[in-house]
Amino acid sequence: MHVLVTGGAGFIGANFVHHTVRTRPDVQVTVLDALTYAGNERSLSPVEDKVTFTKGDIADADLVDALVKDVDLVVHFAAESHNDNSLHDPWPFVRTNVIGTYQLLEAVRRHGVRYHHVSTDEVYGDLELGDPTRFTPQTPYNPSSPYSATKASSDLLVRAWVRSFGVQATISNCSNNYGPYQHVEKFIPRQITNVLDGIRPKLYGTGENVRDWIHVDDHNSAVWAIIDRGRIGETYLIGADGEQDNKTVIELILELMGQEPKAYDHVNDRPGHDLRYAIDAGKLRTELGWEPRYTTFRDGLTATIDWYRSNEAWWRPQKGETEARYGVLGR
Ligand code: NAD
Ligand code: DAU
Repeated sequence: MHVLVTGGAGFIGANFVHHTVRTRPDVQVTVLDALTYAGNERSLSPVEDKVTFTKGDIADADLVDALVKDVDLVVHFAAESHNDNSLHDPWPFVRTNVIGTYQLLEAVRRHGVRYHHVSTDEVYGDLELGDPTRFTPQTPYNPSSPYSATKASSDLLVRAWVRSFGVQATISNCSNNYGPYQHVEKFIPRQITNVLDGIRPKLYGTGENVRDWIHVDDHNSAVWAIIDRGRIGETYLIGADGEQDNKTVIELILELMGQEPKAYDHVNDRPGHDLRYAIDAGKLRTELGWEPRYTTFRDGLTATIDWYRSNEAWWRPQKGETEARYGVLGR
């Protein structure tokens, strides 16, 4: 099998490539990635002799066509992925997440290639605190930010291409990932690298917002379960019952790094900040028999802290510019 992985130099895409090389030696991997500020070719250096890398844009129809015609499967991770950025400049989100997905769908339609679409739980909007409700595949779409609106748009394009053109596609909507190779703009790596740099961690608003954390390897094993055994046209929600409020996570990071757990700052909140996400992954578990491997958040977080401690050369070039951007926003 020959798979084209878009966004394979980003956080989840690079981990997907590592996972695939490690567990499926018979799969040939080609990566298409534009190497935006969020992409890092060094994330692929441990597997560089096993992967073909093409630098390019998923919105480039000719390039996409040339790559898609030679593969059996496209796994689409490439995106503009950071909510805070989408609040300041939504256009790259519309271009990459909507138009880029359109170009991939047209190419897989022309060439009859199987397609898996990687999306987010944020398409469902947010939930109340302390509510037993969780997102299911039946939850209505209700995105809050420009980022989540463009992801929702791309999901709807996939559904239409399945129904109208018979494209062989599946969709997954996953909760918040953590693990190695995540850009330091994101919550967990930002706080870990802040502590390593002697900067106090930054908590948006009151910190009562809840995210449903899953280790990136568990996300990627679920994506492979869907590719292997998922039903065409279906949506699968991916989550590992990892609900935590942000305040608890920041205090745990401080504790695990040997700091005083209250040694953080409250900073400006994110406009329109979603309150709570929570996934019911029952369909994935019962229909496809998937189970997460990282069931203790504390252990997964400890391993992630160790990774950032040992890989400063990977994250250091991102750090100054990221903190300067947050500084302007008072965050
Ligand atoms: P990321 O920002 O770390 O990586 C995105 C990658 O896409 C980068 O390598 C970037 O260079 C590349 N890219 C951006 N625009 C491109 C373009 N026009 N053409 C080609 N490549 C381009 O993102 P991530 O956190 O790894 O997220 C990957 C996917 O998973 C996204 O679709 C995101 O919506 C989804 N997702 C993320 C999470 C999460 O917690 N991070 C959770 C659920 C779903
Ligand atoms: O739910 C899946 C989504 O998770 C993905 O679709 C997105 O691509 C991914 O970025 C993530 O979105 P969030 O907005 O939830 O992630 P972020 O890491 O930006 O923030 C997580 C929470 O932490 C959120 O409630 C905001 C808060 N936060 C974030 C930062 C960067 C802070 O309190 N302080 C911070 O410094």
